[in-house]
Amino acid sequence: MMQEWFNDAKLGIFIHWGVYAVGRRGKESWPLFRAQVSYKQYLKEMEAFDASNYDPEAWADLVEKSGAQYSVLTTKHHDGVALWPTQADGPSIPAATGLPDLIAPYMDALEKRGIRKGLYFSHTDWYNLDHMSVLLGQTPEEVRALQDEDTAWGEIKDADIAARDISDDPDKQAAWQRFLDFHRQQLGEILTNYGDIDLIWFDVMMGRPGFDYKTAEIRDFIHGIHDKTVINSRLGEHGDYETPEQFIPVYPPKGPWELCITTNNTWSYTGREEDYKTPSEVITMFCECLGMGGNMLLNIGPDEYGNVPEQQAALLETLGGWTRKHAEAIYGTVRGLPHGYTYNFTSMNKERDTIYLYLTHVPREATSIKGIHNDVTNVSIVGSGKACSHKRVGGARWLNVPGTLWIDIDPDALDEHVTVLKIELDGPLNLYGGEGVEIDAN
Ligand code: GLC
Repeated sequence: MMQEWFNDAKLGIFIHWGVYAVGRRGKESWPLFRAQVSYKQYLKEMEAFDASNYDPEAWADLVEKSGAQYSVLTTKHHDGVALWPTQADGPSIPAATGLPDLIAPYMDALEKRGIRKGLYFSHTDWYNLDHMSVLLGQTPEEVRALQDEDTAWGEIKDADIAARDISDDPDKQAAWQRFLDFHRQQLGEILTNYGDIDLIWFDVMMGRPGFDYKTAEIRDFIHGIHDKTVINSRLGEHGDYETPEQFIPVYPPKGPWELCITTNNTWSYTGREEDYKTPSEVITMFCECLGMGGNMLLNIGPDEYGNVPEQQAALLETLGGWTRKHAEAIYGTVRGLPHGYTYNFTSMNKERDTIYLYLTHVPREATSIKGIHNDVTNVSIVGSGKACSHKRVGGARWLNVPGTLWIDIDPDALDEHVTVLKIELDGPLNLYGGEGVEIDAN
């Protein structure tokens, strides 16, 4: 069920941590699916996942410093390997290595700091024989044999899966039900082992719409445990918010949404310090999300020892410097002016009598925003409070054409990344929406 905290939070940190960090192939567990590594080799790599530098308190400190209000940790990716000692019949890093539950201490560290706790859980589980035998149309033995080969099964075509009708096949139906029970058991474990979970971040339902995941039952199950858990969109039609991925939409989704995005070009650890977005790029993207009323869930991918790559940590710290300075223009804001009123992204306070304008480019001397009927009572720079002179140009207020507000920008007052202007109005925003008129009386 959507909660106000989520809409107000604006920034979250995603953490992809799993056995895929060992192989450093990037693309999380997808190399399994693409036949680039066999399961045999992949599961063997679990032994090297030693978590010896895992410092959940330091992770949570970093998340706190970035200004994020929530964090989402992968509990199980599509590979089916759990980060906790699951009692269900599936592989887990603790079972393979003797390590303790790796989720619990991070959830505790978040809770201590008042950061909301989120868990990522992949519906699809490429290791589960019931799931895979139904998806591949093979017997469990054939699936296991395929998994044991030196290459995995290669790509499964969604269309082929969807075309497979199992309604007349009691064996396959029973297998599907067993998979759903297994899924439920694991979900139950992660929802009850770590106190109240604020957010469940589901991912990839292979086989939909051909196969019935009983999504409404999954939602009810979650809310039976904690009625305030927010659920992302990847639960059929039962999610609470949309999750555009790796691309900021041109037009915002109608309801609540969150952009999930990587700091480089993959979710998981690769050991290659390349393709990183710069702090200004990340902050600019964040402002674009804020302008459209969305959140940003920014990812980090620690290595198998638990180290957060230096560049990712540095990025989060720089981001934190910016979020601290501009807190009032971030948390609890709502989407700003529609396209066409200014060249900049804008958001507003909830009362809608203050506009926050994000200057992602350096203006030559001034910037403009048009179409505001209200009187502007003050314009200042967020962070320093420095006042900006401003004037209204053009229009004909006696004909209800409000003209353009020009705001002078002192080049010395610019932020290193994005400068935010606070434009205070005499009341809730009243916007002009017309096509312009002839001014026949001056
Ligand atoms: C995609 C990918 C998955 C990744 C996720 C994060 O759904 O399948 O590998 O973890 O996006 O958003």
